[in-house]
Amino acid sequence: MSEEQNIQWFPGHMAKTRRTIKESLNLVDAVAEIVDARVPQSSRNPEINSLISGKPRIILLNKCDMADAVATAKWINYYKSQNITALAVDCRTGSGLKGFRSAVMNLLGEKLERYRQKGMVGKTLKIMVVGIPNVGKSSFINKMCGANRAKAENRPGVTRGNQWFKIDKDLELLDTPGILWPKFDDKAVGEKLAFTGAVKDAVLDTELLAVRLLETISGDYFDLIKNRYGVEYDEDSYELLCAIGKRRGMVQRGGVTDTERAANMLLEEYRNCKIGRITLEKPEEI
Ligand code: G4P
Repeated sequence: MSEEQNIQWFPGHMAKTRRTIKESLNLVDAVAEIVDARVPQSSRNPEINSLISGKPRIILLNKCDMADAVATAKWINYYKSQNITALAVDCRTGSGLKGFRSAVMNLLGEKLERYRQKGMVGKTLKIMVVGIPNVGKSSFINKMCGANRAKAENRPGVTRGNQWFKIDKDLELLDTPGILWPKFDDKAVGEKLAFTGAVKDAVLDTELLAVRLLETISGDYFDLIKNRYGVEYDEDSYELLCAIGKRRGMVQRGGVTDTERAANMLLEEYRNCKIGRITLEKPEEI
């Protein structure tokens, strides 16, 4: 196994997205940025802060059902310290989304008051939904719409026009115009997105990825690994992967553990939250 993980990136065709987002920003009152609660930093577009600067913003820590609740609370506090409202949500079930509307109203309180003073009551608030592919934008829009209405195209080179979704007379959502890629050139970011499945395995060495996952989570979450697989701690994460494979009966002829199978199983179980609710990065690390 090579020490160096070679992650192949899609080309980051950001120029067009940058332009369309800038243009569309004039049409909205605020931005809802969706991130993955398990990797809130790595699941962001690296240019997003400058792209949406000047617009009120809410961060939705999505997939919080799969993240460590203590870590999610820390992230919310961290954003709060930066004067950013953040909500923990699960866009699959809709949990946490009830707070979205009031968070938007709070965020835009002054603007709404100005509208009211001018006699402009009942003005529809327009929110742009932004986020990298697979973070849950369509799920969020669908849940807010109460129907299966949004389907995003994430393939590189496929552009989407501005898609508006009317939630009710007070609120409209605009899906990300263009595709916002994550920070593709950062190896650590790519690795974490590969752990969560946001970046596909085909381009990665599965065994190495599984070993790196174990290295990453063994410190804070070894109890969860132990509970799931009945293995003892091993400093050497490759040995740990072997022990996990062995416990699952993944032994080839000659008694050698099939680490490839074990690696696939481990990654799949992490992604499906079978090991437990695990957050891969904490605010104090950034
Ligand atoms: P996108 O528009 O930003 O590309 O993301 P999308 O909503 O398509 O969501 C990507 C995947 O993440 C989907 O799973 C979706 O169900 C899942 N997902 C979205 N929000 C949540 C959440 O809060 N919790 C969990 N656990 N999963 C979430 P998929 O496997 O690609 O499709 P499917 O299983 O829904 O068919």
